[in-house]
Amino acid sequence: MPRSREILEEEIRLATPKSRAQWERGTATMPGGVIKGAYWMAPHPIYVERAEDCYVWDLDGHKYVDFTNHHTAMVLGHSPPTVIEAVNKAVAQGLGFGAPSTLEAEMAEEIVNRFPSIEKVRFTGSGTESSLHATRMVRAFTGRPKIAKFEGAYHGSHDALEISTAPDIARAGPADSPTAVASWPGMARGSEDNVVILPYGQRESVELILREQKDEVAAVFFDAKAGIYDLDPSFALFLRDLTRELGMVMVMDEVVSFRAGYSGYQGHVGVEPDLTLFAKIMSGGLPGGVLAGKAELMDMLDNSTGATLNQSGTFSGNHITLAAGLATLRALTPDVYRHFDVLRKRLISGLERVLGDAGVRANVRGIGSIVSFDFGERPVQDYRSLIETDREIFELIRMEVLLRGYVMAAGLGICLCVPMEIEHIDGLVGAIGEALAAE
Ligand SMILES: Cc1ncc(COP(=O)(O)O)c(C=O)c1O
Repeated sequence: MPRSREILEEEIRLATPKSRAQWERGTATMPGGVIKGAYWMAPHPIYVERAEDCYVWDLDGHKYVDFTNHHTAMVLGHSPPTVIEAVNKAVAQGLGFGAPSTLEAEMAEEIVNRFPSIEKVRFTGSGTESSLHATRMVRAFTGRPKIAKFEGAYHGSHDALEISTAPDIARAGPADSPTAVASWPGMARGSEDNVVILPYGQRESVELILREQKDEVAAVFFDAKAGIYDLDPSFALFLRDLTRELGMVMVMDEVVSFRAGYSGYQGHVGVEPDLTLFAKIMSGGLPGGVLAGKAELMDMLDNSTGATLNQSGTFSGNHITLAAGLATLRALTPDVYRHFDVLRKRLISGLERVLGDAGVRANVRGIGSIVSFDFGERPVQDYRSLIETDREIFELIRMEVLLRGYVMAAGLGICLCVPMEIEHIDGLVGAIGEALAAE
């Protein structure tokens, strides 16, 4: 079993004094010393000086293999030559135009050609913005006030959808009919009243809830949590049929699940949602997002004919993000997914081996370029089974492997990127094996 938290935190403090000093400096001017909440980690964040391929180097000169890929975004690694070249070319043309560029149509065509469900495309500033605009679009389209989403799913940081993202189980109601719980104080009063919470994977309950609310629910937002939850692929097909029958819009969140395959999770399972949300990979690892889907919905944004809705955003569709996104999409060829298949299978079998050797109850799962493992009795198929797992052991293993030169994080899975080879996978598996045997 890994060593104690006290020992590991002390070892990290000793190994990374420059990161510690940097964090302490930041505490005077930034809440918690960091520029965003996700950067906090115990005993202090590790500050990165530079990144290349699948590696990052910290301020103290340590080199790590990075299995977090910038919150899953850098699927091509940190320095893909064709993306850097495209970004450099875009920067040389000027930093901002405030006017359209030819990259827009190129990118939109690339997306439409890749995803059979998509007819029209708009660019936003982030995944959060994409889901915000989708919320208005589905309500305006159907004339219904509510949104259905799954317990434990995160679609962005705004009041319409940041409901039951990680609810306190004491307030979350029954597993088959969860209560909507606002994620934060300060959200608009009644935010949760406009959201219906669904349980992942439970067909009968989902059907019952949606049928009961069929005149109220405009759309079902669905993130398959590909590689994070172990969800039966046919669940997406079931949702597609049910939403179609009930006249609800099916919105698929592919911000992370694009990692599942060439055409994302929707391509993997063969489902065509009405709308899709993207960000991260689709923005080539730069800030940006995409809202895309059927023309009858997307054309509500058509300003040339007097649009029903307006979608603004100073930096939406800026040519630098478009250049990065387009070069990234073009680099994500079928060969890349075959490479991921090899790496993923190696990682899953390696993890099963070292976890088995250690004699612990654990679950390993993965799809495309994401793999997850957790310590628990039952398979992780939804939020409730996830929070039953032993998060503390996972956190201790995260610290043990960090000290051995590997970065991984809880929540978004172990992310594979193109420059990785078998040796990186075997290295991580070896480090996890050592962590499990540490004393
Ligand atoms: C599944 C999912 N949807 C939406 C978002 C929001 O995207 P962004 O951070 O670009 O606003 C995230 C961010 O992590 C996400 O994981």
